[in-house]
Amino acid sequence: MSSITPEIIKNNLAGVYDPDTGVDVVSSGMISGVVVREGASGAKVGFVITIEARDRDRKAYLREACETQVKKLAGVESVTAVLTAQNSEAIPPKPEAGYSQPRERAVWNVTPVEGVRRVIAVASGKGGVGKSTTAVNLALAMQRTGLRVGLLDADIYGPSLPRMLGLANDKPEIVDNKMVAPVAHGIQCMSMGFITGDEAAVLRGPMISKTLHQLLRFTHWGTADAPLDVLLVDMPPGTGDIHLSLVQQTPLAGAVIVTTPQEVAVMDARKCLKMFLKVEVPILGIIENMSYFIDARGERLALFGQGGGKRLADEAGVPLLGEIPMDAGIGAAVERGDMYAGDAAGAYAQAAQKLT
Ligand SMILES: Nc1ncnc2c1ncn2[C@@H]1O[C@H](COP(=O)(O)OP(=O)(O)O)[C@@H](O)[C@H]1O
Ligand SMILES: [Mg+2]
Repeated sequence: MSSITPEIIKNNLAGVYDPDTGVDVVSSGMISGVVVREGASGAKVGFVITIEARDRDRKAYLREACETQVKKLAGVESVTAVLTAQNSEAIPPKPEAGYSQPRERAVWNVTPVEGVRRVIAVASGKGGVGKSTTAVNLALAMQRTGLRVGLLDADIYGPSLPRMLGLANDKPEIVDNKMVAPVAHGIQCMSMGFITGDEAAVLRGPMISKTLHQLLRFTHWGTADAPLDVLLVDMPPGTGDIHLSLVQQTPLAGAVIVTTPQEVAVMDARKCLKMFLKVEVPILGIIENMSYFIDARGERLALFGQGGGKRLADEAGVPLLGEIPMDAGIGAAVERGDMYAGDAAGAYAQAAQKLT
């Protein structure tokens, strides 16, 4: 009887190293299913080597390296190693019933916005959860990666972007019958606020649709040669007329839903999410804002409960794009008309990356 055991094989394989980490293939958990069978003239050995799918070509040689290593053992007749490539990137769970994403994008038969590649809505159910803050910071994060970005303030009743961007005193110029969007921090911005000032517009149904149309279509965004890569639309709260107008007028690439962790906010975010799905706008993901606060000792405090964004994302089978911390600097920056890039900047950058 041969003295070869799976333990011996594993000890032996520990002499082969993962080139990326310098850790042996056994300790890195790449080896599994070691079997040893008695053959006529020694042990027949088999095992599985698991590598990341993206390393498939680069690390394929490990199969031969492992086989060669085991063959060196006295008493081994043959070695069969199977190389499997797995994708360890988290695959989002299947959506629950009632959340199926539209199969075809932009089913609405609407003309693209001139000079704009993708239009993405930033929406939430509730007001005050940080939609505008999220839209502005996502725009900034995208712009920093070299994309051309625009912001459209579709909160016609309560426009806040001009103030947040320090553009409150700007008035768009008219050139060739179109408005020139004022620019802050390299980002073009158009808002009802430029037209009405701080007074909320008193508009009814058809006028809302017309106003949105003008802001969207009578603005010089990019050009044919240099279009905006992304136009982010900062939505008003709720699921009202402006949402439907936007969906009817714009070939939306999708919507990002902003919520805070607590259940009351999630409930409204869920309604908003379902509204977009109903009109066949894909949901690109969830951003949970005000997820936690880092106290003076550096500990995370969950001020508004925990996990609401993740729950909604799992339920709808869409990615959780980010968990944005509470950041006292954000409010102050908004008051200064400044764009904020403090503690939360990293989380926004990651979310932006997942969207582009
Ligand atoms: N992560 C955050 N940390 C601290 N304050 C925040 C954060 N996100 C938003 N705020 C503040 O909360 C308030 C509401 O945000 P805003 O973006 O205007 O919400 P919405 O557009 O959804 O109504 C603002 O005063 C803003 O400065
Ligand atoms: Mg807002």
